[in-house]
Amino acid sequence: MENRPPAPSGRNGALTNYWLGGLTAGFLALAALFVVKAGGHPVARAVIPLVDPKFLATTPWRQTYADLVKAKEDLSDYDCYGCHDKNKPPPIRYDANHKIIVPQEHSDIVMGHGSHDRNNLCFNCHNEQNLLTLQVRDGREVSFDNIPPLCGSCHGPTYRDWENGAHGRTSGYWNRSLGDFQRLSCANCHNPHAPRIPTREPAPGPHQLHPNPETHEPAEAAP
Ligand code: HEC
Ligand code: HEC
Ligand code: HEC
Ligand code: HEC
Repeated sequence: MENRPPAPSGRNGALTNYWLGGLTAGFLALAALFVVKAGGHPVARAVIPLVDPKFLATTPWRQTYADLVKAKEDLSDYDCYGCHDKNKPPPIRYDANHKIIVPQEHSDIVMGHGSHDRNNLCFNCHNEQNLLTLQVRDGREVSFDNIPPLCGSCHGPTYRDWENGAHGRTSGYWNRSLGDFQRLSCANCHNPHAPRIPTREPAPGPHQLHPNPETHEPAEAAP
């Protein structure tokens, strides 16, 4: 004989129906509350502005002498001996506070290399014996289209990082057998005369899961 549970008695069946009816009514009431949003409306999300597209541009923001040559642009600023005398280095003039006076003819140059103007002396970089070249601290001459060794003569650690690709920007191929790689020059990002890079406002963060920490109200999708 099978050992079945006893069939519900009449009184038990009525009790079950009573409970099931109660639960159905309870769920229907809850559904109605959700539909009318009786618990209050969720906070609407503020619209996050899109990032300024200029921050996403991949073209370097400065053109170096080498870029100007490649683009066949006006190079008159580099025709030093169009104005200066050979064999006669231009004299450096200072004001009463020993600040370098940049002459009118070079008013496009605003010196600001280092806090406290620590590296504003023109001949720290330009070669006074030959204005058409730059002068590395150890006396080597480098041309205007090869700036990194000049910067590296004073900024050793940064130059080392740059050479290894940790500072600045390298693009192209990891696998050199597939193609070449390009490394931006220091002067594609830093103005040699005023190299500090202006700080930028950071892009806005994402939406918070709970914009109101007190009510733990979830956010509603932006319209
Ligand atoms: C449009 C003409 C012109 C050109 C081009 C020019 N210079 Fe000059 N530069 C001047 C004049 C004018 C002065 C101030 C007069 C002087 O002291 O001889 C001057 C002054 C200077 C000084 C001294 C700055 C100071 O603060 O006293 C330096 C260094 C110098 N020039 C470097 C250069 C170099 C390097 C180039 C090329 C990359 C160049 N110049 C191209 C006209 C020019
Ligand atoms: C003759 C040495 C010398 C050379 C060459 C030189 N620098 Fe500097 N640089 C300095 C000194 C000194 C400071 C200031 C450090 C400080 O204030 O603590 C400085 C500061 C800086 C800073 C920090 C920003 C600032 O203004 O404080 C940057 C970036 C920089 N240099 C980039 C360059 C680049 C790029 C070149 C090549 C075009 C270059 N430097 C060439 C000596 C040099
Ligand atoms: C930290 C090194 C450094 C110092 C200091 C410096 N220069 Fe330069 N200068 C350069 C480099 C590098 C270039 C080439 C820029 C490029 O390729 O973008 C340049 C370019 C120039 C040019 C041609 C382009 C232009 O902007 O007109 C002139 C003129 C010039 N410098 C004059 C001066 C004078 C004058 C001083 C001093 C008041 C001075 N420089 C100080 C590194 C320096
Ligand atoms: C792709 C752009 C890029 C190139 C290329 C680049 N730099 Fe920079 N460099 C930066 C930025 C961005 C900073 C950070 C500025 C900041 O933190 O305010 C910086 C910071 C620096 C500083 C200041 C570091 C400090 O600790 O304060 C120095 C010095 C410097 N660079 C030198 C160089 C030299 C030298 C080269 C070339 C050998 C070079 N940079 C190439 C973008 C560049």
